[in-house]
Amino acid sequence: MMSSARRMSRGLATVSAVLAAALLLAGCERPPVDVVQRGFRGTGMELVYNPRTLVPQTYQNVAPDALPAVPAEGPKAKDVYKNVQVLGDLSVAEFNRTMVAISSWIAPTQQCTFCHAAGEGFESDTLYQKVVARRMLQMTQAINSQWNAHVGSTGVTCYTCHRGQANPPQVWFRQPQSPQAARIMGDDAGQNKAVGTGLTGSLPYNALAEYLLEGQNIRVNGTTALPTGNRQSIKQAEFTYSLMVHMSDGLGVNCTYCHNTQNFGKWEGSPPQRTTAWHGIRMAREINSTYIEPLHPVFPASEKGALGDVAKVSCGTCHQGAYKPLYGAQMARDYPGLVRAPAASAAAAPRARQAAR
Ligand code: HEC
Ligand code: HEC
Ligand code: HEC
Ligand code: HEC
Repeated sequence: MMSSARRMSRGLATVSAVLAAALLLAGCERPPVDVVQRGFRGTGMELVYNPRTLVPQTYQNVAPDALPAVPAEGPKAKDVYKNVQVLGDLSVAEFNRTMVAISSWIAPTQQCTFCHAAGEGFESDTLYQKVVARRMLQMTQAINSQWNAHVGSTGVTCYTCHRGQANPPQVWFRQPQSPQAARIMGDDAGQNKAVGTGLTGSLPYNALAEYLLEGQNIRVNGTTALPTGNRQSIKQAEFTYSLMVHMSDGLGVNCTYCHNTQNFGKWEGSPPQRTTAWHGIRMAREINSTYIEPLHPVFPASEKGALGDVAKVSCGTCHQGAYKPLYGAQMARDYPGLVRAPAASAAAAPRARQAAR
């Protein structure tokens, strides 16, 4: 016969086992899920969606209506205002329409005074927010006119990233590595820390800095059955996987959205989205290295990360869990000030890179 103490401890063990199972499952999504086939039968080219998480996600990604159009004719902004360096060729009407739009995209509550110091003329550059906004205007123009290989004619506005907030909801900073001496388990080797942005804890947490700021090589697979000089290490492969997990998470898709898992490295047989993504990686790199990092001296310390760096752009900054930002809503079309004639500095296409390998 079991003593009552024994029975009680058994009961407790059962309860804690059930609790532990419930806790573990809390991280899972409740079935049923939907599966969409995207390639030939038997190739496993399918995407798994959870219809219940998709519904709120759809409502969070609705683009605001464009402001009513205004005449493109009439005096130009550069002839009327004192300190217009980027939008000078717009008509005064279009210039003011753009100011109203950016206020609603970046600072819907503070409006004009978020960038223009109250009591000073609009030409004054006192607030850092205005200096940043001017560079962001140039950045947005560059995205819409030089990166059509990625953003097509859909393009972006400030809203694509900012969503009505001064700080875009999805950004990343460099993470400090845990000091070796302070850890009982020793060096964390840049891994095992949850940092958001979809990078899972067990993979390197500074992967975005390697690929979306610096131009480290992402390709790690050997292309021959026997070792013939591929010097990429398992550690490098872990960085690649970290980026890939972020890309999947940022777009709300599975790996098979871009890969035929028969061979992750091969371009033949990969869906066309992989080529778009290839350009997206280069675009994010240019956004971060040419436009955002150089703003370092302009931003106050309160806006910076643990290592003193400025918040940077990832795939999730624009996409926010959607395969196309705002589910493909046309963004640039309605704002001539955010588009400019293309310049000749697009990155080389993946075909050329393949030939080099
Ligand atoms: C997110 C920042 C931001 C907000 C909000 C903003 N502006 Fe501006 N504003 C700028 C920038 C940047 C420039 C300079 C543009 C350039 O150099 O081409 C500018 C320039 C101007 C100028 C030209 C001044 C001159 O003489 O040089 C006027 C006028 C102006 N803004 C009006 C407004 C009004 C009115 C609002 C509110 C409806 C507003 N702005 C909201 C960033 C902002
Ligand atoms: C590709 C994404 C992206 C786009 C498009 C974009 N921004 Fe930004 N913006 C950022 C990031 C990242 C930061 C840094 C945020 C932080 O410090 O948390 C930022 C910061 C800013 C800030 C400083 C906010 C603060 O309080 O420190 C202003 C102002 C701003 N952006 C204006 C604009 C304007 C105006 C446009 C459109 C012409 C625009 N941005 C388009 C990504 C973007
Ligand atoms: C949005 C598209 C996209 C998604 C989603 C994606 N990848 Fe990739 N993947 C790419 C692109 C583009 C490259 C090549 C990058 C380059 O060459 O700069 C790549 C490269 C790779 C490589 C390196 C191949 C080589 O030649 O060494 C591996 C491995 C890989 N991906 C695995 C994955 C895994 C695993 C997932 C899911 C967790 C995934 N990818 C999700 C687009 C994607
Ligand atoms: C500046 C904003 C921005 C950033 C940053 C960005 N994208 Fe995009 N992306 C877009 C826009 C806009 C489209 C829609 C283009 C269109 O409609 O043709 C798009 C489309 C795509 C598509 C094609 C989807 C389809 O079904 O055709 C893929 C894949 C993609 N992006 C991957 C990425 C990856 C991976 C990253 C990060 C390395 C990234 N994007 C970063 C704006 C962005």
